[in-house]
Amino acid sequence: MRVVVLVSGTGSNLQALIDASADPAYGVEIVAVGADREGTLGIVRAEAAGIPTFVTRLRDHATREEWDAALTAAIAVHEPELIVLAGFMKLVGEPFLTAYGGRTLNTHPALSPSFPGAHGPADALAYGVKVTGATLFVVDAGVDTGAIVSQVAVPVEDDDDVVSLHERIKVVERAMLVESVGRIAREGITVSGRRVRFGASDSHALD
Ligand code: GRF
Repeated sequence: MRVVVLVSGTGSNLQALIDASADPAYGVEIVAVGADREGTLGIVRAEAAGIPTFVTRLRDHATREEWDAALTAAIAVHEPELIVLAGFMKLVGEPFLTAYGGRTLNTHPALSPSFPGAHGPADALAYGVKVTGATLFVVDAGVDTGAIVSQVAVPVEDDDDVVSLHERIKVVERAMLVESVGRIAREGITVSGRRVRFGASDSHALD
């Protein structure tokens, strides 16, 4: 399965996918990595692995929609079957969703529907929940609202701060992402409303 990964930062989720993809039995080829900003470690990781990269910056475009269309065009060159947003800190819009809605996954460091947005671990800590985690979902027009593919729970410890909690979440988040993307490549995925299961409904893995 041809996969494009989008990143904004460290790219440890990307690295986990790169490492898993080294085994042909995993079933995934990362055909390109894109970012919304220059100088990310994620792009460095991709280049080190010999994967084509691109950067599409919002500030280089007159409107958000133009940026979204440019991002979509940069992705389309690589003819992906699946897009993975792995720490990609921008919301995608209408041009992107028209092209890739239903075949784009995002990973979020909280248990949806709790604590959507850019501060999942901090918001969970501030609320005082005892269990949080990570959610992999099919991207829609909302903020972390899409149909849930997979979730994993992480206990909050008494002495956690935002960094320690997020780092523990990221350990299980990476494993969940690797397992789920591999299963989608090998088995397909079926989305019925909000209900998602692994396994294709027909011979087209992502239809
Ligand atoms: C992940 O926890 C992701 O869910 C969140 O930002 C983190 C990205 O980590 N949006 P990395 O860049 O993959 O290391």
